[in-house]
Amino acid sequence: MGIAHTTRKILSGDAFNSVVAGVKRLRYPLDPQPFIDSIDKKELERIKEKYYNPKDKVTSRKYLDLAEWMPTNAKRIRDVMLRPAPPKKRVLDIGCGTGYFLYIAKSLGHDVLGMDIPGHKLFDEVCNNLLHIPRCLHTIEPYQKLPDLGAPFDLISAHMTCFNRYEDGKRWGPEEWKFFLDDIETRLTPTGFIHMDLNAELDGSHMAPALRQFFIDRGAKVDRRKFRLVPKR
Ligand SMILES: C[S@@+](CC[C@H](N)C(=O)[O-])C[C@H]1O[C@@H](n2cnc3c(N)ncnc32)[C@H](O)[C@@H]1O
Repeated sequence: MGIAHTTRKILSGDAFNSVVAGVKRLRYPLDPQPFIDSIDKKELERIKEKYYNPKDKVTSRKYLDLAEWMPTNAKRIRDVMLRPAPPKKRVLDIGCGTGYFLYIAKSLGHDVLGMDIPGHKLFDEVCNNLLHIPRCLHTIEPYQKLPDLGAPFDLISAHMTCFNRYEDGKRWGPEEWKFFLDDIETRLTPTGFIHMDLNAELDGSHMAPALRQFFIDRGAKVDRRKFRLVPKR
């Protein structure tokens, strides 16, 4: 990490928010191994034989490396402080991919729903045949409301988001996000919140300054690519 990057991070308040997130995680240790152990090994091997290539660290095949991705998702669960039920929480994960985040949430006793684009064979097989994660297959479009998703959610999450990208790679700006957040905030319980971890901007930066300011003005806590938003009520 360069001096310029570190200085920028300190000035932006990200350093403080990172430390707070790290301290919070210390209060909630969560071993990913039991979640790996509970998975049907025969079915995992069948899916891996079809898709896995250990040299491929770029496409969705990489997600079949459970030793890497289950710990990543246990850390995400700790970041949102989703402790074992009770109380049972209802969780929506947008762009859920293989669904490991929701698998851990479900194993902790929560009620989960994934959302993802239709027709992705690897994600379909992992979610349907291996982890048994209920999903709503839906492609998010800018300025379009989400479909009816039933009961409100205590947590709406998204990790390494891609739904906020146009085909040319351009990312959503504040206007698209405003429409989207106005909609999903109506799908929260009175104590519910939104936690999202965006993919990097085209230039490799964490978040465009105007977008970062938009999230902050809306009341979100921003830490590098992540924001946590408890709607103003
Ligand atoms: C980089 S992957 C991340 C997967 C998962 N969240 C994780 O972190 O392991 C991005 C996910 O977003 C989904 N996605 C991309 N465009 C989408 C859209 N327009 N609507 C809904 N999901 C979308 C992809 O299918 C994929 O599951």
